[in-house]
Amino acid sequence: MIKIAILASGSGSNAENISRYFYDHKNIKISYILSNKRDAFVLERAKKLGIPSKVFSNKEMKEQVDLLNLLKVEADFIVLAGFLLKVPENIIEAFPNKIINIHPALLPNYGGKGMYGMHVHRAVKENKESETGITIHFVNENYDEGAIIFQAKTSLTAEDSPETIAEKIHTLEQEHFPRVLEEVISKAM
Ligand code: GRF
Repeated sequence: MIKIAILASGSGSNAENISRYFYDHKNIKISYILSNKRDAFVLERAKKLGIPSKVFSNKEMKEQVDLLNLLKVEADFIVLAGFLLKVPENIIEAFPNKIINIHPALLPNYGGKGMYGMHVHRAVKENKESETGITIHFVNENYDEGAIIFQAKTSLTAEDSPETIAEKIHTLEQEHFPRVLEEVISKAM
């Protein structure tokens, strides 16, 4: 069994969607859902899904040792699904091409520090973009700069608000993220 640990800081709709997708999978399973936020809704979802979960503080994340040890045992791949902290270098080094993130825009546009969640969608709206999308990419030591695995686009109109943009992105994420993960992981097996 290939084990995926999901790291998430927020609502966790992607974490849940991925977990449901792999529920009965013969080769891939979600082993852990980890969060840096004690009150993140993703932890409720983990409980309901019967997936082990754990919270670690920002300090623990920086000190890494426990987290790294847990990941070494519990994960072959790490998936970031709305995870807002920078992944420490030790973890990146221990999981080369094994950490995958989803970003709610068409990188390299609207990436980097501070570009997350609604900040991205507001910036897209302010710039009157005619399209936006999702980017699934490997994680390296710089925010949002690892090799791109997959992108999908959606068109926008002047009527779109940051909220409707978020919904369109959400739809793309639900449709593509689990399937793309399955492809990447199957190739690596
Ligand atoms: C998603 O839009 C994802 O692309 C971004 O953060 C959001 C997380 O949403 N990285 P959720 O917690 O999965 O509902």
